[in-house]
Amino acid sequence: VIDRAVRPKALADYIGQPAVREQMEIFIGAAQKRGEALDHTLVFGPPGLGKTTLANIIATEMGVSLKSTSGPVLEKAGDLAALMTNLEPGDVLFIDEIHRLSPVVEEILYPAMEDFQLDIMIGEGPAARSIKLDLPPFTLVGATTRAGLLTSPLRDRFGIVQRLEFYSVADLTRIVLRAAELIGVNMEESGAVEVAKRARGTPRVANRLLRRVRDYAEMRGDGVVTSEMADLALNMLKVDERGFDHMDRRLLLALMDNFDGGPVGIESLAAAISEERGTIEDVIEPYLIQQGFMARTPRGRILTANAYLHFGVDLPKRLRESD
Ligand code: ADE
Repeated sequence: VIDRAVRPKALADYIGQPAVREQMEIFIGAAQKRGEALDHTLVFGPPGLGKTTLANIIATEMGVSLKSTSGPVLEKAGDLAALMTNLEPGDVLFIDEIHRLSPVVEEILYPAMEDFQLDIMIGEGPAARSIKLDLPPFTLVGATTRAGLLTSPLRDRFGIVQRLEFYSVADLTRIVLRAAELIGVNMEESGAVEVAKRARGTPRVANRLLRRVRDYAEMRGDGVVTSEMADLALNMLKVDERGFDHMDRRLLLALMDNFDGGPVGIESLAAAISEERGTIEDVIEPYLIQQGFMARTPRGRILTANAYLHFGVDLPKRLRESD
């Protein structure tokens, strides 16, 4: 509910991601000037960076409606057909987790994207018939954590591809201050900086921490979120000074203690911390890799010197300068 209140609705209110913002401003403006639907757009990046928000902004800026679904929800070709036959010209069809479409659903998406043609089979056995329907021009916005999860025929049908990056502390600070204002939190700038530093580069995390820090300041202080209040609250939540949470530390420490810092295969690492491989790949490790605490190599995952320094552990021989 609160997420909805703080989500920006216009491109001008979208903070950070400057490359994405500039490109989308141009592509949306040009499509509008020609009176056309925007080209199909693929948005990818780790969870919580604003893929759904961007889809909503595209619809708002184009002045059209957005119909929303997700890959795993569309079981049969007819599920997608029902959605697409309800579109008005120019509408946005948003498919979250588009890498999880079943092959039969993906198959009918191709002619729909390319020629705005719906090609479906109705009935079974001798009575089965194929019918073709014209669709209005529309914009498919697909979201996924990694572009590499899509089949190449699907990926090739997107005219616009946007990669969302982790946010800088400066951009996250602005996002936290904006959200604090919108939901009525009394926040000092230094409090916002503290939350931003410890939010894993991710607005969704920042907004969640903001709400917990507010709770803390209301119960343990006078309601004003100072940097001291934010620090105490985040320590209580076991978010460390680098913004790593329980799962981040579990992954790094397993790599350190069970596998001597690697290299280790992703499946072995997943088994060691009882976590799904996909969760490690899509949710946990992208930030640790971006921050330079671990790396992916052809032989497996490895820890970097930063991780040993962070935990105050002596560097292994592999990472020591020649002595
Ligand atoms: N809230 C979540 N993501 C945001 C963004 N990129 N800009 C502004 N507010 C946000």
